Amino acid sequence: MGISTLDDLTVEDATVGVRVDINSPLTADGRLADDARLDAHVGTLDELLDRGGRVAVLAHQGRPGGDEFAGLEDHAARLDEMLEYPVAYCDATFSAEARDAIAALDAGEAVLLENTRFYSEEYMEFPAEEAAETFLVDRLVPAFDVFVNDAFAAAHRSQPSMIGFPPRLPSYAGRVMERELDVLGHIEETPRPRVYALGGAKIADALDVAESVLERDLADQILTSGMTGNAFLEASGVWIGDPSHDAIVDRDATAIDDASALLEEYGDRINVPEDVAIGRDGERVEVAVEDLPVDQPALDVGDRTIAAYADTFETAGTAILNGPPGVFEEERFAKGTKEVFAAATRAEYSIVGGGDTAAALRRHGIEGFDHVSTGGGAALRMLTGDSLPAVEVLRR
Ligand code: 3PG
Repeated sequence: MGISTLDDLTVEDATVGVRVDINSPLTADGRLADDARLDAHVGTLDELLDRGGRVAVLAHQGRPGGDEFAGLEDHAARLDEMLEYPVAYCDATFSAEARDAIAALDAGEAVLLENTRFYSEEYMEFPAEEAAETFLVDRLVPAFDVFVNDAFAAAHRSQPSMIGFPPRLPSYAGRVMERELDVLGHIEETPRPRVYALGGAKIADALDVAESVLERDLADQILTSGMTGNAFLEASGVWIGDPSHDAIVDRDATAIDDASALLEEYGDRINVPEDVAIGRDGERVEVAVEDLPVDQPALDVGDRTIAAYADTFETAGTAILNGPPGVFEEERFAKGTKEVFAAATRAEYSIVGGGDTAAALRRHGIEGFDHVSTGGGAALRMLTGDSLPAVEVLRR
């Protein structure tokens, strides 16, 4: 892949700056609500420590002004439990206090530095050469011998801690980054027929993926569901009813026209739902396409669609999932997500885009995929064939 990995790095006695993405959901009182993203980096961090590195970890949590914008003390405590080696916490990122904490590390010890986004320059996007001159990078470069970027999930961000070190230090991809690029960067080599299941409420993202993979002839079939499926249903000439229509247009005013254009050009490869599920008197009610419109929003796909999509996966070489088929957070509308996703594991090879899709799998304990991406936006960018700034800079 043209990028150096941990296989190319001599770790022993080196001080390694490692950027991870442990940006996680928090509870209302600011505690970690899910440690899946931390778990993903355990392999990279334990390997560096096991090989005798002194490891300084950089990470962000939330966005300035957002509810989940918080310090990383809890994350450090959890990493300390998860890793085979000790992880301390330092409530500074690049000040003298942080640099002292790094200098005090012994081989086989790690410190998690404070949320990079507590510093405003970290929430700006720069070209790599300018990122390399920011305070955060400039102060930390002398403290590190090498830099490892394992934060695939933030690789679409041109922020200093993501792209500023490679112009100044020998830099390597960590194991998470390596595996994600290996899988998501080589979709065209996966077995065919290749089936993309595109659902969820981020209709514009799903339409971008659909357009890109159809245009590049990467997709043999697209199975639409969720609000994305509703947009395609309407674009195919079925009137679902005002509530579903309004929800689509509220999200994305051009979604139905965009879906129509895709259907016109690639209709033979795009599948739309055959039925939907709505809520009535607290119950799930399934409505066939022939019986639409309905006066309630369509919040899941129904049994007919589930069966048709499951059939397609039976003979699929590769299944690629992005976006849940229904409102999986509510049990009565989780059936489509549970059953369509479980059927996708029967394809010869299966890949899950991150974000909401991975969260749906975890919530419903659906397992058996070959690759579950740690990235939301980053995975999406790769699925649409875009390059990622943090990867480009590692390649240079
Ligand atoms: C993510 O959660 O997708 C990454 O951590 C990036 O976070 P951001 O979208 O706030 O930059």
